[in-house]
Amino acid sequence: MRLLKPALFALCLLPLVAVLVRVFEFGGATLGANPIESIQDTFGRWGLRLLLVTLAITPLRDWCGAPWLIGLRRMLGLFAFGYVVLHFVTWLILDQSMYWPGIADDVSRRPFITIGFIALLLLLPLALTSTNRAMRRLGRRWKSLHRLSYLIVLLGVWHYYWQAKADTREPILYFVIASVLLGWRGYRLFRHGHRFNPFS
Ligand code: HEM
Repeated sequence: MRLLKPALFALCLLPLVAVLVRVFEFGGATLGANPIESIQDTFGRWGLRLLLVTLAITPLRDWCGAPWLIGLRRMLGLFAFGYVVLHFVTWLILDQSMYWPGIADDVSRRPFITIGFIALLLLLPLALTSTNRAMRRLGRRWKSLHRLSYLIVLLGVWHYYWQAKADTREPILYFVIASVLLGWRGYRLFRHGHRFNPFS
């Protein structure tokens, strides 16, 4: 665990490093014909992938009998949040140039953006209550609050599916993965009932 956590931390930084390499064109790498879209898509995809990985931790712990996996969950969740924020900030600054009437119009009139925005708003309280102190203070309510992550992942997949024009294979794959992970939780609840443990 002492080595695994820093290694995973470095691994989670790789998508950001890959974007920076392309922004500064190191080694001839480029962002392609649509640089803003390329940056935004990379952050959006990794935000969603890391949300799914975070959601996979509890089932993996149960399937592999590896309780130590839970120790990685907070870091993965915060990286997911970080990439979603970068995705949003790229859209806000580079795509919309912080033009507020246009931003309000997009958020209210383009359903896939409305869904993404709701998912981001729901992620905020989870990130803010990710500390040990918040966990202790909220007690039983912490777990109820963090169950929002199930809805957030589904909104994220829906948002991805909705904006995908022709190729919907990747969002559909993520939907299948999310269904398995959430289905497992439903099954566990049905089999064992509800017992409070903030670390599970
Ligand atoms: C949990 C929150 C979110 C997740 C997981 C997420 C994820 C994604 C993913 C995976 C894509 C597709 C990337 C691709 O085609 O390769 C995408 C596209 C997009 N997202 Fe989000 N997103 C979220 C929130 C938001 C928010 C808050 C906004 C803006 C208000 C936003 C705006 C967009 C836009 C405009 C695109 C299309 C980009 C393009 O033109 O290709 N997203 N998002």
